[in-house]
Amino acid sequence: MPASRSQSPENDVFGISTEIVPERTNKTASTTNLTFDDLLPKDKPLLLHEDLQEGCGGQLWPAGMVLSRYLLTYHKTGSLLDKSIVEIGAGGGLVGLAVALGCEINRPVYITDQLPMFALMQKNIVLNNLQGKVEAEIYDWGTPPPSKVLGDAGRYPDIVLAADCVYFEPAFPLLLQTLGDLIGPSTTCYFCFKKRRKADMRFIRDMTKKFAVEQVTYDHREGDQREGIFLYQVQQKDRKQ
Ligand SMILES: C[S@@+](CC[C@H](N)C(=O)[O-])C[C@H]1O[C@@H](n2cnc3c(N)ncnc32)[C@H](O)[C@@H]1O
Repeated sequence: MPASRSQSPENDVFGISTEIVPERTNKTASTTNLTFDDLLPKDKPLLLHEDLQEGCGGQLWPAGMVLSRYLLTYHKTGSLLDKSIVEIGAGGGLVGLAVALGCEINRPVYITDQLPMFALMQKNIVLNNLQGKVEAEIYDWGTPPPSKVLGDAGRYPDIVLAADCVYFEPAFPLLLQTLGDLIGPSTTCYFCFKKRRKADMRFIRDMTKKFAVEQVTYDHREGDQREGIFLYQVQQKDRKQ
């Protein structure tokens, strides 16, 4: 294995079909300015450093863009106040950073991923001057959630964000377990994914067996679905409204 290759197969951009992950040679590390079609001010865009050196999370993914746009449009004011927010499989932190820049929040947003993504998450927090507002944590699906993301009393987070986390079949059971570990009686998970293979729909079927899963209604939903991108709201089945 070349020295630059990641030790974890799900982070190995060479080990995944190039239909799913663009080849690394096509992309050098760079920083992109994102306003999400003016949902963020032009003079205060999100700065996302992308670098595929440590794995596929080091670039911007389509479901992450859709989930960011949705949150910046429909959860800009009020609804996220006082909420504890955790992003899983955050890559460079796109969605969590977008929320911290463009939505009204008053608690830190935790962006989480595996160890190889940690430095990139940190870099993007600093690039956007979001120290204190966004915190990076290492969180491997299937392992116990870091105590910080559960809060002092070991409660469940209020909001879980997951974008483009369905792409590596061996990780599906771990992802399902992590959703079970994080989704409590009053948690809402916004789960956005791009369907690439039949197996992806098997994951959604298994998720639907375990949780109450509803498609989220929003402008542009039909266009996104034509591109194979679906946004769900996932909650406990026996949740008391
Ligand atoms: C396709 S990327 C999506 C990144 C980001 N959410 C976005 O939409 O731009 C999937 C992310 O899931 C992370 N991931 C994969 N397997 C994981 C695991 N077992 N535990 C934690 N994170 C994992 C990868 O490191 C990667 O950053």
